[in-house]
Amino acid sequence: MKTLKILVLNGPNLNLLGTREPGIYGTETLSSIEADLLAEAKALGGIELDFFQSNAESDLITRVGASRGTFDGILINPAALTHTSLGLADALSAVADVVPAVEVHLSNTAAREEIRHKSLTASACIGQIMGFKGNSYVLALDALVNHLR
Ligand code: DQA
Repeated sequence: MKTLKILVLNGPNLNLLGTREPGIYGTETLSSIEADLLAEAKALGGIELDFFQSNAESDLITRVGASRGTFDGILINPAALTHTSLGLADALSAVADVVPAVEVHLSNTAAREEIRHKSLTASACIGQIMGFKGNSYVLALDALVNHLR
């Protein structure tokens, strides 16, 4: 079984998880979510994860663009950039032929303010998982690995 390399990207303000609006996003920190993902990757076997969080749109666009040839898939929570960044959506589309992405959200954005209902990035992804707080990431990893294997 070939080892799958998955890039896990997190956008603006997700470094604040744990204390950021816990009623909406839960109490898990980003490190704890990453630890859960590592445990799931170990349980699945043959998965290598690489984590990156940034508050800067350009850093995320650069990581996505550089993923071709290095990664087999992307898990991405674009955070607020979901609703605003055509540049990030274009980067995901640019690599989608070889690096499929799954969009993840902690909250169910469809049940929140109208401005959060539209995702610019979703159409560049193979699917979305949202609304299960930190567990959304683990579910998204399972979905991506199922898609890739
Ligand atoms: C989020 C939802 C976005 O609307 C918001 O801007 C975030 C987090 C989520 O995971 O629920 O920062 O992506």
